[in-house]
Amino acid sequence: MTDGNSGVSVYDVPAEWSKRAWIDDAKYREMYARSLSDPDGFWAEQGKRIDWMKPFSKVSNCSFEPGNISIKWFEDGTTNVAWNCIDRHLPKRANQVAIIWEGDDPNESKEITYAELAREVATFANVLKAHGVKKGDTVTVYLPMIPEAAYAMLACARIGAIHSVVFGGFSPDSLAGRIEGCGSKVVITADEGLRGGRKVALKSNADEAIRKTGDTVKSLIVVKRTGGSVAWNAGRDVWYHEETAKVSATCLPAEMKAEDPLFILYTSGSTGAPKGVVHSTGGYLVFASMTHQYVFDYHDGDIYWCTADVGWVTGHSYILYGPLANGATTLMFEGVPNYPDNSRFWSVIDKHKVNIFYTAPTAIRALMQSGDAPVKKTSRASLRLLGSVGEPINPEAWEWYHRVVGEDRCPIVDTWWQTETGGILITPLPGATKLKPGSATQPFFGVVPEIVDAEGKMLEGATEGNLCITKSWPGQMRTVYGDHARFEQTYFSTYKGKYFTGDGCRRDADGYYWITGRVDDVINVSGHRMGTAEVESSLVAHPAVSEAAVVGYPHDIKGQGIYAYVTLMQGQEPSEALRKELIAWVRKDIGPIASPDLIQFAPGLPKTRSGKIMRRILRKIAEDEPSSLGDTSTLADPAVVDDLVRNRQNNK
Ligand code: PRX
Repeated sequence: MTDGNSGVSVYDVPAEWSKRAWIDDAKYREMYARSLSDPDGFWAEQGKRIDWMKPFSKVSNCSFEPGNISIKWFEDGTTNVAWNCIDRHLPKRANQVAIIWEGDDPNESKEITYAELAREVATFANVLKAHGVKKGDTVTVYLPMIPEAAYAMLACARIGAIHSVVFGGFSPDSLAGRIEGCGSKVVITADEGLRGGRKVALKSNADEAIRKTGDTVKSLIVVKRTGGSVAWNAGRDVWYHEETAKVSATCLPAEMKAEDPLFILYTSGSTGAPKGVVHSTGGYLVFASMTHQYVFDYHDGDIYWCTADVGWVTGHSYILYGPLANGATTLMFEGVPNYPDNSRFWSVIDKHKVNIFYTAPTAIRALMQSGDAPVKKTSRASLRLLGSVGEPINPEAWEWYHRVVGEDRCPIVDTWWQTETGGILITPLPGATKLKPGSATQPFFGVVPEIVDAEGKMLEGATEGNLCITKSWPGQMRTVYGDHARFEQTYFSTYKGKYFTGDGCRRDADGYYWITGRVDDVINVSGHRMGTAEVESSLVAHPAVSEAAVVGYPHDIKGQGIYAYVTLMQGQEPSEALRKELIAWVRKDIGPIASPDLIQFAPGLPKTRSGKIMRRILRKIAEDEPSSLGDTSTLADPAVVDDLVRNRQNNK
């Protein structure tokens, strides 16, 4: 069947799926309707999917009203996230594998049972305590994809400390900003990371970052990963393996209030420095557990693999917290999709008999370029369900994923969500939802999407506009760390009374949602969020640069690439060498994910008479659509645009 709106094929729910899945079509409709008509009754039942030390009696207490943004779920209950992810499984699952770790080197892997996880996490928790970490303190985690990353996060949760995980690809400067932002006195890192056979100098990055903070960090706990030589600061640095020998392997879980923060995760927005998104204990875990079970249709015994890095929210919710809350077996992969060759994902699936596989469109597009052979030489017979996250998936990549990787038998769940949402909000459920390639399809339980126009007017039926969510859900972020006013300003001031996602969205005649991408000054590069303002401020910090404007442009593999317009200081001449230097500058300043793909030297930028840069025009030029620049009559100097268009041509 073909979809009349978009021309894509429509895929029915396979019969065996509607039979075996937790949720079929009728159940989805019934539960979705109840989640709106009786939200507190609905969520009170779901709240019981985790164990509580003191049961909650209040379910939700949320306001999106201007001046009073407040989000509370299960607020009088107490619990502990690590206790839910580990201890409660021990009577039944002590010898079940909790984490399968697959190393960068295909000959290296290990399995960690729930009993082992319990000991490792308690030990790490005691190491943290020995270094003075107390309930409510923040701990920055800058680790590669090794089991100790999971132990560290769960150890924080166990003692009520708030973890802030920083992706290992971030630079010392970015790490420094994030350590300072939440005031961590303890940082956890490794000697070196290992990705695609290459070493990443994590300890030395951490040293430099801590120096930049003015040495506010008291303890740097270093996990030995590669054994490479590292500088040592004797008063501050300790080897993790030496510390573990000094402490016991049992540690009682701290009793936490449902609304106590579990973690902070820094994410880019359209303005200013990255924000510390704060997630809660109770509501977050209920939502991560529930979405993991229903969206991936997780059943006991399934082997589940999410390829994200724990440095991103996907790693938090869907490598760690959701799966472990459900007593699942979750696979953690240290490497990259094309090392030692581009069959790696599929070989790992065969090696560990993975049933559920969750990755990003950028990886699918990159692998698709090397053709079907690297996929087809593997069996993938264990695969049952495929997932996608992080950016819109183009129908061609979706079809390839479905046909070649999933051999036409595995449904694909295209899951739309954000760091701020804590868990998946718009998604198919594999036993319930007909699939349209490129559409995230339908809202999850309790989620009320609304499409509005630029003025905030609600648009009905088949339409396109900006995506808001009008009711709270338990996994929603609670605040920006240390700056509640910024929380309100960023998410609730554009459209009063609604959470604004920053995404554009189309709804078709069947009520299916199609995310069209960011409508703010955030770009999505290989599924990683970058604020254009961050890249701009890095560029203007270079002595040769007087002004910079950064926009996204369509990129075959990355989804969006980074296009930077740069105006040089007087006396500076554009050159290939300077172009390379600026790319390296941003790379070093922020991290490799922020490297501009294209730099165009521009004698001037298009500005309004009041001096505002007209990004709409810059975006069109970067997209190579000079014929649709729109109205340029408000420009102070229209000749600037002709020059930019001419040079865009040269830049191809
Ligand atoms: O633009 C949307 C895009 O990624 C943004 C959120 O990025 P981040 O907070 O880094 O979280 C990524 C992983 C949850 C969104 O605002 N996005 C995420 N998933 C999808 C998506 N766009 C389209 N389809 C998706 N499935």
